[in-house]
Amino acid sequence: MAKIIDGKQSAAAVTDIVTQAAAKLEAEAGVKPGLAVVIVGDNPASHSYVGAKGRMAKQCGFNSMQYTLPEDTTQDTLENLVEKLNADPAVHGILVQLPLPGHLNSEPVIQSIRPEKDVDGLNVVNAGKVASGDLASGLVSCTPAGAMILVRNEHGADLSGLNAVVIGRSNLFGKPMGLLLLAANATVTMAHSRTKDLAAVCRQADILVAAVGRPLMVKADWVKPGATVIDVGINRVDAPEKGEGKTRLVGDVAFDECLDVAGVITPVPGGVGPMTIAMLMANTVVAAYRSLGRPIPTF
Ligand code: GUN
Repeated sequence: MAKIIDGKQSAAAVTDIVTQAAAKLEAEAGVKPGLAVVIVGDNPASHSYVGAKGRMAKQCGFNSMQYTLPEDTTQDTLENLVEKLNADPAVHGILVQLPLPGHLNSEPVIQSIRPEKDVDGLNVVNAGKVASGDLASGLVSCTPAGAMILVRNEHGADLSGLNAVVIGRSNLFGKPMGLLLLAANATVTMAHSRTKDLAAVCRQADILVAAVGRPLMVKADWVKPGATVIDVGINRVDAPEKGEGKTRLVGDVAFDECLDVAGVITPVPGGVGPMTIAMLMANTVVAAYRSLGRPIPTF
């Protein structure tokens, strides 16, 4: 049976470093790291994620700011808010929660965030640094950065000789994850909905990372025996066994059956999810340190 990775424990190790670094910055420079999270509309899942981010920011000793805008917010209003936050020296990190309501265009909003405050790592400057192998001077997207820490905990920093398959090619996760694995010397395949015989491709993976948003898609016979399986999916599905109208969270991996085949596997919830929030805190404290010209903590 596979070892189950405890993402909460790994996340706590990161947030401990963040909390100490934040306390040091406040004691020595009188500056609290400031994280501004912007949410537009009423998406319940987004509100729940944003609430968790705000609570963790406070727990780390940050100045946590949440801007909740109504569903009918205009593109101009949103972009003006980002400009205001860009100019505010007390704000070191800006995150605009995605997805935005359908009438808004997220790309210009994301690209208008100053790269040094782009704690999501989605600005082309930060994404380009990851693509060119510069993992030191920018900000790396939180979920892939967190997933990489879990991979590093199992395999060390050098993945030479290992095959990694990432299912999913989003800017938020799949692309940067593939690039981070490549930077760590893995041999990387980025698979997606148009990949031929996805199961056979996945069976080649020593490290299999699933980020497709399809509940329980990865089956036991997709997994190479002994592989490390990282499940990035968070899908809410009906759970009639818990009572009428009840739901539960599942990943993109059929966890119960893959447990018998994998060497190591992340659960959902409690795997990659806590790492995402921890890395958001890490990016924010790094942004605050850089804004003061201080050497940054490492994670
Ligand atoms: N929505 C789901 N995950 C994320 C994330 O990591 N960042 C932002 N901005 N929105 C998200």
